[in-house]
Amino acid sequence: MPGSSALPADLPAAAADGTRTLADTYGRVARDLRVSLTDRCNLRCTYCMPAEGLDWLPTEQTLDDDETIRLLAIAVEKLGIRQIRFTGGEPLLRKSLEKIIAAAKGLRTDEGRAPQLAMTTNGMGLARRVHALKDAGLDRVNISLDTVDPELYARLTRRDRVTDAIAAIDAAVAAGLSPVKVNAVIMPGINDHSIGDLARFCLERGAQLRFIEQMPLGPPSQWKRAEMITAQDILDALAEEFELSPVDKPRGSAPAALWNVTDGTRSGEVGVIASVSHPFCGDCDRTRLTTDGAIRSCLFSAAGDEVSLRELLRSGASDDEIGALWAAAMWRKKPGHGIDDPGFLQPDRPMSAIGG
Ligand code: 5AD
Ligand code: SF4
Repeated sequence: MPGSSALPADLPAAAADGTRTLADTYGRVARDLRVSLTDRCNLRCTYCMPAEGLDWLPTEQTLDDDETIRLLAIAVEKLGIRQIRFTGGEPLLRKSLEKIIAAAKGLRTDEGRAPQLAMTTNGMGLARRVHALKDAGLDRVNISLDTVDPELYARLTRRDRVTDAIAAIDAAVAAGLSPVKVNAVIMPGINDHSIGDLARFCLERGAQLRFIEQMPLGPPSQWKRAEMITAQDILDALAEEFELSPVDKPRGSAPAALWNVTDGTRSGEVGVIASVSHPFCGDCDRTRLTTDGAIRSCLFSAAGDEVSLRELLRSGASDDEIGALWAAAMWRKKPGHGIDDPGFLQPDRPMSAIGG
């Protein structure tokens, strides 16, 4: 069978009907698939990309719609995936996004349900497409917004488009893609003074804010461990302006620690994702598919840990053969990202080509 030489000898066998789970040797089981639908983007966030953009993947190396949809079907119907998140680059740049979403919604998980479908987007052009996306089966969105200040947004993303991002959030709330989450990466000396403004903005709109610790994934000059803004720094800043109390419900594999936030008039939930200072790798239930058809068991996987499904997919292999290679890629998942290890190396692939 093609690719079989790559399968580890201790990989658990598939069930008689060809199904298996994406388990690893540390007892974790992946249920959440992140699919990068393009490595391109229409913004140039300084922490993610250089001003001139990156060398985009050549089209012949990227999965087409049929290949993408086939892998989604294998993931959901053979490998136990229950939730799919579409990412990029910027997933709205994929013209066939609605078609891919509709196909994913038609799948059935091992529990007999349609998978939950979410998207992480910068929101450019979302307002125009939000109803089509919802009708296709999209359940939820996370929209990136690192500041509400137009001038700072323009500097940070190198595009003067904060009104498009805000329009996207309003359109997603109005369309009921709830809960609408807003992702904010906080960086020292750049937008750490925006924490209160972002919280007020989201409380006013009923959107759930997620503060994300900056991770070492973009241009190396943009991240320094000693200077980074930690989850604790973010909570301290929030506590100066709001009353905070921890949300009393189990977190499971969700990365955000949730806080009830109130300014006396409005209340809402704010999440803080401490990927660096308090890694949640032990509860990670994610598997990642890149635009060019590689499986990454972790955001921080090294190039040598990636397993490409593309050649197998294009060689006429069966679903079971492809599923076995995917399972093998996850079986070798490392226990953690190791950002604080002395030998830590940033992945060669940029975040925009991995998917958030
Ligand atoms: N650290 C943390 N979050 C990041 N994102 C992009 N790069 C980084 C990074 N280095 C965020 C984006 C978006 C999501 C896909 O990940 O802002 O919200
Ligand atoms: Fe685009 Fe997201 Fe990277 Fe910003 S962080 S340049 S929106 S891919």
